[in-house]
Amino acid sequence: MAVAYPPQDIISKTYPSATSKTILFIFEASEISSFINEERNKARRKNIPIDGGEVFGKSTRTVLELSWEKPPASLEKGFLIGSDPTCDVYLPQSHKNSKEQKLAVSRFHCRIHFNSQSGVLLLDDCSKLGTKIRKRDQEIIELTENNPTIMLQSKWTICIANFYLLTIIIPWNPSNWPHYIQELRNRIPTVEGSSRLPNQTPTEAIGGKYQYWKCLGCGGFSQVDVFVDSSTGTFVAGKRYTGRGVLQIEKEIEILKQLQHPSIIDILEQVPQSLDTTIIFMEYSPHGDLMKFDLTEWAEPKRLEAFRQLLDALNYMHSQNIMHRDIKPENILVMSQEPLRLKFIDFGLSRVVGSNMTLSGTIGYTSPELSMEGHPYSFPADPYLRFVMSKRLSVGQCAAQESLGEGKENLMPIALQAEPPKPLTFQ
Ligand SMILES: Nc1ncnc2c1ncn2[C@@H]1O[C@H](COP(=O)(O)OP(=O)(O)O)[C@@H](O)[C@H]1O
Ligand SMILES: [Mg+2]
Repeated sequence: MAVAYPPQDIISKTYPSATSKTILFIFEASEISSFINEERNKARRKNIPIDGGEVFGKSTRTVLELSWEKPPASLEKGFLIGSDPTCDVYLPQSHKNSKEQKLAVSRFHCRIHFNSQSGVLLLDDCSKLGTKIRKRDQEIIELTENNPTIMLQSKWTICIANFYLLTIIIPWNPSNWPHYIQELRNRIPTVEGSSRLPNQTPTEAIGGKYQYWKCLGCGGFSQVDVFVDSSTGTFVAGKRYTGRGVLQIEKEIEILKQLQHPSIIDILEQVPQSLDTTIIFMEYSPHGDLMKFDLTEWAEPKRLEAFRQLLDALNYMHSQNIMHRDIKPENILVMSQEPLRLKFIDFGLSRVVGSNMTLSGTIGYTSPELSMEGHPYSFPADPYLRFVMSKRLSVGQCAAQESLGEGKENLMPIALQAEPPKPLTFQ
């Protein structure tokens, strides 16, 4: 590869030249290729100021700007890069400065497009001979037919036909990010909105694949973050246990791997981080857990469908000899609303029945026998969900809500006295 100019830390100072319409800037990193000055690229050319510091001083530089002012013909296909004259970034096959008469640039060599869920920029190779990338740390990755896609990152250089070098700058910063994401959502409404700028500092992808995006929440014993699977651009959730919780993780992984059901979360991969930390990667839901919803607003058929899905999953778990032991709205994800799809998560307290069964659950949701020291219990403790969850599904509150401050020993009388919910009928 030819020497890159200007140095990447200098071009990073050009962020302020971006408007909310800017998607990215393309710098020419080789002094010989000069595709930026091609007539067909004229409409995307822009002069932007560069602050080169004490050594290089202030100057301007001509770059290509991909922006919403000139969107690609097809959003799904994205911005096409290649030697076909219709490409958004045109790279001629033979170049006047080149000794090689014919470069191996395909008509449609690669493309930059958006993942429709996360909105992250993806680079896809569509060529015969592949597309190389030089990462910030100088590592080279090759995109080929077998692994054609990668989440594009700022300051990476795309190398085409060992001749063209396109350095990408993605100019997100805290002030232009909200406008940028709004512009994107106006075009692709399925993109999840986020007022907060995702993590921008380069981090090493976990498991060579999962790029940290944002924190989802920290519980007492675990932390759940959102990552981007850099080979597809989709969001995944990563759960790690902290403090005392680290002992739970092996059990949760073992049980999750055993269970395959449409209403139970799918584990994608587990990646050990250190001796006592492993991250469980699983499907992610942007809608969050059931606790965030006012279930009284759901029409009865929808609530019945919710109940049907949960009981079906519970029935399956029990057929596999597994008790969840911590059923509550926070541990049920809403994967989609139309059609309704719920999934159980958080199997940290689950057990194979018979193995070392001790006290378990969350006050306010557990069955009385699960909360009482020395009291034997089994599968029926899980369907206590029928009572507590149906109460939540029918009147929108926890069965033992009034007594939460008073300790779990009071739960049994409350549970026994509380008026049972009206029977629900299912077809
Ligand atoms: N896959 C996921 N997608 C979206 N949100 C999730 C996911 N997994 C967990 N969460 C959120 O994080 C919270 C904590 O996760 P959970 O597995 O229940 O951990 P804990 O053991 O700390 O309760 C959940 O209540 C839910 O709001
Ligand atoms: Mg939980």
